[in-house]
Amino acid sequence: MTGPGPGAGPTPFQTILRGRRSIRRFSPAPVEPEKLRACLEAARLAPSAHNVQPWRIMVVDDAALKAKLAEAAFGGFFKASRFAAQAPVILVLLARPGRAVVRLGSRIQGVPYYLLDMGIAGEHIVLQAEELGLATCWMGWFNYRKVRRGLGIPKSYRLVALMPLGYAEKRPLREPPRRTLEGIAAWNEVPPE
Ligand SMILES: Cc1cc2nc3c(=O)[nH]c(=O)nc-3n(C[C@H](O)[C@H](O)[C@H](O)COP(=O)(O)O)c2cc1C
Repeated sequence: MTGPGPGAGPTPFQTILRGRRSIRRFSPAPVEPEKLRACLEAARLAPSAHNVQPWRIMVVDDAALKAKLAEAAFGGFFKASRFAAQAPVILVLLARPGRAVVRLGSRIQGVPYYLLDMGIAGEHIVLQAEELGLATCWMGWFNYRKVRRGLGIPKSYRLVALMPLGYAEKRPLREPPRRTLEGIAAWNEVPPE
């Protein structure tokens, strides 16, 4: 990792990027309200196509509602995801895909921009959490249909992902492998498959 200049170590931002891990063991310690708000604020500041700001975030921190969400989300086929229920907060990432003109633009271009926007906003949350010593995990492996029904999410919202938020009880011992830089980027030619 190169820092900002010769001999300098990683920048604070690079340390955050390197330190972040998907956490699958959460401590029951609550999240301080101001830290939670800082994470939500980070999402609020994210860029979005046409500045549509499609993100809507349901903050589930009520124990009974969280149990209901976990039951709907992580039953049967999805039981590997049950660890998320240990986190004191689960963020439900919802999207309002935007005005017809933006949806048409997405269709013409073949890129679901609102999903890009949600990814950016979600990762803002993840990185802000990391800076504040909190832990997260992006989650797509859960029962979307039952969560939608269980939480009463109306049709006008897309359910995009869940994100447990809390303090890590255990961090993974190994860093999941990453492709090399040459394996993902190429100068003036198409990168290797
Ligand atoms: C969109 C998305 C969905 C994910 N869904 C899950 C999930 O359902 N369960 C899980 O344990 N991890 C999930 N992950 C975490 C990935 O497995 C993890 O990011 C990857 O293995 C790299 O590990 P790291 O995040 O610690 O660097 C998801 C990540 C992303 C970006």
